[in-house]
Amino acid sequence: MKVYVSRPIPQNAYKILKDAGLEVFANEENRILSKQELIENIKDVDALLPLLTDAIDDEVLASNPKLKIVANYAVGFNNINIEAATKRGILVTNTPDVLTDTTADMAFALLMTTARSIVPSDKFTRDGMFDKWEPLGFLGQDIHHATLGIIGAGRIGQVVAKRGHHGFDMKILYVDMSHNEYMDSELGATKVELDYLLQNSDFVSLHVPLFPNTHHLIGKDQFKMMKKTAVLINTARGPVVDEEALVEALKTGEIWAAGLDVYEKEPTVHHELLKMDNVVLAPHIASASIQTREEMGRIAAENIVLFLNGKKPLTPVNPAVLQ
Ligand code: GLV
Ligand code: GLV
Repeated sequence: MKVYVSRPIPQNAYKILKDAGLEVFANEENRILSKQELIENIKDVDALLPLLTDAIDDEVLASNPKLKIVANYAVGFNNINIEAATKRGILVTNTPDVLTDTTADMAFALLMTTARSIVPSDKFTRDGMFDKWEPLGFLGQDIHHATLGIIGAGRIGQVVAKRGHHGFDMKILYVDMSHNEYMDSELGATKVELDYLLQNSDFVSLHVPLFPNTHHLIGKDQFKMMKKTAVLINTARGPVVDEEALVEALKTGEIWAAGLDVYEKEPTVHHELLKMDNVVLAPHIASASIQTREEMGRIAAENIVLFLNGKKPLTPVNPAVLQ
């Protein structure tokens, strides 16, 4: 059986696929394929291992009736039409768990970097501007004992909260569909309504997947509710935030700063954000540690090997297909 990998990923994944006797075809250029190229390249394969930069819509899924599994190299799967895959009996898998701590580390790195103006102060130092200690320079926001609002208390949201509570004595508020036992009992967290969280948090960190009902979850009205000293952190998906409204909120001082790893029109970053001192901008690297990217490759490859061998995959997104 044949597998197609849409862009270079860590070597261990190819090895797992080949050791299982699969024939591996791959895009060896680090370039996003056009839809037509992707369709052409997956014509004859049983499995596809795409990246979050590949739009796997119904046209792609329909192009190859032999296609059995799409093993996304990401925890998020908004790049795939899940409903269409399910209808066509194609299994979709993702890479949860292995990137939870790494992504939470990045959310916290952005939170700290933003709160303490690390990026502008690094530039200041490199530019040779550090000529005396400043009693009034680069004054940031305290992290310790501040209130951290977690929107989406899933796997990643929980461990961001854990870092805040255990590492920095932060008070935790969260928004989720249901009570989270771990958050409530281990972190002393309080489940609240979104408006309350926005009004009362010093840091607001987003950890919801991108679905139609989370698109522009944070927009003009939400920024108005936030503290003027608040910091917004987004390591989830860009379109969860109305980026135009974010720019406005930062410009008018409705919020204090933002730390972003994801963007509404990725890889394009709003030109106004690029000019602002009170934002920290990363190029969607939250899961980018050497260890985690290998683990993501392992999970994606194992999902393919297991499923093509008639076994239960590790992390199905649409388990209905398995019945
Ligand atoms: C990264 O954004 C992922 O979904 O894994
Ligand atoms: C997001 O994927 C999460 O698990 O929180």
